[in-house]
Amino acid sequence: MLNKEPAIAVTGLRKSYGPHLVLDGIDLTVPQGTIFSLLGPNGAGKTTTVQILSTLLKADAGQIRVAGHDLAAEPDAVRAAIGVTGQFSAVDDLLTGEENLRLMADLLHVGRGRRRQTVHALLERFDLADVARKPVAAYSGGLRRRLDLAMTMVGEPRLIFLDEPTAGLDPRSRRDLWQTVRGLVENDGVTVFLTTQYLEEADQLADRVALLSRGALVAEGTPDQLKRLIPGGHISVRFADETALTVRIGDAGIVDSLRSVLEQLDAREAEVAGLSVHTPDLDDVFLALTGDAPAAPTAGVGSPAGPAIPAGPAIPAGPAIPAGPTLPTSPTAAVITTTTATTTATTTKDPAR
Ligand SMILES: Nc1ncnc2c1ncn2[C@@H]1O[C@H](COP(=O)(O)OP(=O)(O)OP(=O)(O)O)[C@@H](O)[C@H]1O
Ligand SMILES: [Mg+2]
Repeated sequence: MLNKEPAIAVTGLRKSYGPHLVLDGIDLTVPQGTIFSLLGPNGAGKTTTVQILSTLLKADAGQIRVAGHDLAAEPDAVRAAIGVTGQFSAVDDLLTGEENLRLMADLLHVGRGRRRQTVHALLERFDLADVARKPVAAYSGGLRRRLDLAMTMVGEPRLIFLDEPTAGLDPRSRRDLWQTVRGLVENDGVTVFLTTQYLEEADQLADRVALLSRGALVAEGTPDQLKRLIPGGHISVRFADETALTVRIGDAGIVDSLRSVLEQLDAREAEVAGLSVHTPDLDDVFLALTGDAPAAPTAGVGSPAGPAIPAGPAIPAGPAIPAGPTLPTSPTAAVITTTTATTTATTTKDPAR
């Protein structure tokens, strides 16, 4: 691969299954040595994209270069340069971890001498040495995923596709796998194309993120650039009388908005029971751009609010904006919801009071 050429360059990628249009003209570029995350809900077309880019499925249209080769003209050269960890584990349950790796080395024609060394190094590297002689059927989900990744690395690929690598893993195993993936990029200079439904995962790992929705990329950029599409976050205030207030952070920024809110609360001698600051995350971006609920819902501005209570120590910093499933995008600071604290998960008081 030429030094400066992107690891993946795609223009106008289209794919339908019969009458069902899944990818409607996708353009994307992934520089070498970076992590790119394709983010989308169930059925968005993430696996379809991975299968096309890894030569497992034919595109209907589009110019695609992967690892420095034209995908249509040189699929074998592409295959030799990449590794794929599919959405569903591809290891053999009846074999041990070590036997699985040996089998993969044989399939890839790794010579006998090198095979032993390769398998040993991968078992150590992916923290599998202790379970190497156990059948995979006895592995936890996290171990199985690590073995999957080790199998993908047997051929020393320069570019790997990870299709929802942490789906179903507990938070600890997920963080471990993130660390492993980061190591592949930082220590080996591997390029990673990762799909996920977890917005936090893209935020944690990816240099660039693209949001796939209804066949199109609705946004692409660094996690920070995408977060900037949603101006400000919000400040939530809970009062002693069980009312609550949400104030959007506008152009003034968090510090000035917070100072203004605190000054006004002080001036009104409001009895504050709690206050929290929410900075925008990728969930907010996804909601704002697609109107779809993200796969892993989190509380935030888009959460259903209780009935609006106009009374109480309101802080009229701007026009009231009705609560709803879509994030308001006005850059001005504004009261966006007032609600009873008893409708939120944070209250510990008896709602019947
Ligand atoms: N072989 C197939 N034949 C017909 N339709 C298909 C086929 N494979 C996928 N689809 C459809 O294409 C759409 C995209 O599927 P795909 O598996 O790429 O989505 P995904 O983003 O990977 O979803 P998930 O998060 O559930 O894995 C879905 O509507 C799916 O039902
Ligand atoms: Mg999929």
